[in-house]
Amino acid sequence: AGPFLFRFSHVVGEDTPKGRGALLFRKLVDQRLAGRVHVEVYPDSKLFGDADEMAALQNNQAQLLAPSLAKFSQYNPQLQVFDLPFLFNDMAALERFQRRPVGRELLQSMKAHNIVGLGYWHNGMKQMSASKPLRLPADAAGLTFRIQASPVAEAQFAAVRASAVAMPFAEVRNALSSGRVQAAENPWTNLYSKHLDELQPVITETSHGALDYMVVANSRFWYGMPHEIRSELEAILDEVSHAVNTDAEQQNAQARAAILAAGRSQIVTLTADEREAWRQAMRPVWLRFEGQISRKLIEAAERSNHAR
Ligand code: LMR
Repeated sequence: AGPFLFRFSHVVGEDTPKGRGALLFRKLVDQRLAGRVHVEVYPDSKLFGDADEMAALQNNQAQLLAPSLAKFSQYNPQLQVFDLPFLFNDMAALERFQRRPVGRELLQSMKAHNIVGLGYWHNGMKQMSASKPLRLPADAAGLTFRIQASPVAEAQFAAVRASAVAMPFAEVRNALSSGRVQAAENPWTNLYSKHLDELQPVITETSHGALDYMVVANSRFWYGMPHEIRSELEAILDEVSHAVNTDAEQQNAQARAAILAAGRSQIVTLTADEREAWRQAMRPVWLRFEGQISRKLIEAAERSNHAR
């Protein structure tokens, strides 16, 4: 049977952790499964965007996606654990959580929706950009933030008396330039690759949460492939995930340095006390979502902050 066509659709630029991961996947498949599997990569929402990519996956118009974990809440509300503000101290904590059985199980948790998770890919910690410095939670009051379609993100900004508008990633730039929103939360690579620093005078380094992805396939399609092809694809994906997750931190550091060098945005670093004020203001959001996520999962995530 075959060749099997994999359309890998995503919403960011090619020079980002996810963009590079998709291209590496295509390259390794070309090398190892030529004639049996064919990969086409569609970046920048060119084929499907945030509003339609999950439906496209479920009806097999796209075979591979890597949406941010914030975009799965309607399929499994437990995945909202990844978006709770100030839960994971850093990407290393997130990585530990994902590697543990509890994290692996979440990959398999959406099969009833014909979605199977094949791995986690990192981007980086999210920073808040705005028309002004956001040293303290009160500085955000009255601003409108662009958010991903995520109830946690909405609650997080409501907690500091800011408004939030959910919209696809492809619309962020226009929304900032038209003034429909005045603020956003993004990792450095997404800020830099979309030149959002041209539109946001200040980026406050809040690192209040992670932007991370789940690589997902249509599960009927995935398990319908011959076993030997699927296991070769699994091996390739493991290799790509390792590469993405090893490079993401450095790519974010480079994007930060490039933004600093370009000088269009000021980068504001918080003192420990200022960051603690943000943490205190947003921490009540955990309790609000505890019923949907489960206390057990939140506690497991907290434990991952301590290396074992
Ligand atoms: C966003 O919508 O801000 C992100 O999920 C985009 C992405 O895929 O990094």
